[in-house]
Amino acid sequence: IKNIAVLTSGGDAPGMNAAIRAVVRTGIYYNLNVFGVRRGYDGLVNGDIFSMDAKSVANIIQRGGTILKTARSADFRTIEGRQRAYDNIKANNIDGLVVIGGDGTFTGATKFIEEFDIPIVGLPGTIDNDLAGTDFTIGYDTAINTVIDAVDKIRDTAESHDRLFVIEVMGRDSGLIALRSGISTGAEAVLIPEIAVDYDAIMTRLDKTRKNKASRIIIVAEGDKEGGLVVAEKIQKQFPHYDVRVSILGHIQRGGKPSCMDRVLASRLGVAAVEGLIEGRRGEMAGLIHSQVHFTPFNKAIKHIDSINQNLLRIVEILSL
Ligand code: F6P
Repeated sequence: IKNIAVLTSGGDAPGMNAAIRAVVRTGIYYNLNVFGVRRGYDGLVNGDIFSMDAKSVANIIQRGGTILKTARSADFRTIEGRQRAYDNIKANNIDGLVVIGGDGTFTGATKFIEEFDIPIVGLPGTIDNDLAGTDFTIGYDTAINTVIDAVDKIRDTAESHDRLFVIEVMGRDSGLIALRSGISTGAEAVLIPEIAVDYDAIMTRLDKTRKNKASRIIIVAEGDKEGGLVVAEKIQKQFPHYDVRVSILGHIQRGGKPSCMDRVLASRLGVAAVEGLIEGRRGEMAGLIHSQVHFTPFNKAIKHIDSINQNLLRIVEILSL
């Protein structure tokens, strides 16, 4: 291959810039021409493709967001859109593509390579950590650190006022952001969509532990059936004397400079993706399992359900006395 392109797609994640930088510089290292595509698959459909060099990725490893911008492309979901994307790829003589994103990105890529002849390698870029084939996705570590920073601050005020806070965190249909941030902030309960919520047990625990602590924190994953507001209402109804507040952290979780873990992960996987393309890989995501690079077919990577480590929830219970 001679000419490769890179794009970011779906929700942005801290570390995407570090991944772009790694892809561009690895391409140059192997004497390839590297192109950037703006706004994910929309940029392919509209021909928003430009040449990148080592300098165009200078000073971005520490920046949140994505310099290539991102989108969830409606056009790319149509066959006409994908045909236009392929025509633009051919017009620019691109013979390999690196896509950085989550399961929507890999679902689109899978469809594209079924229909057209273009090698694609993926990088896991999402705060949700909801992909199989990698222990962690790029952006997850930074996001959970943002969450614990916010929750620690809420804990200060909750403690001063003897309040119970229900805090809703992102993760789409995955509870992995909730679980790790719950353990690391000493949350009294964590509600995640993967495991049925036993309200009786939670209410009993809340009441029992009251003597030991002034403040209580309940972390609710946004994918939970009820959501933070309803959970708070239920608790308030059961315990009218509790002073309950709700905080929905929202998009603050997607921004900020990437952590060291995310920068290193993005750099390692960016190098692996380009080397994978050169070796002839296609339709696979580069991930890190037990610190070793692994390639996983897109259709396996997007099947994340069951990946919850039940032991982590047990740890919340044991430690919330
Ligand atoms: O996938 C990342 C994510 O932040 C999810 O956690 C969340 O459900 C979703 O994206 C929000 O998407 P948007 O930014 O389009 O509202």
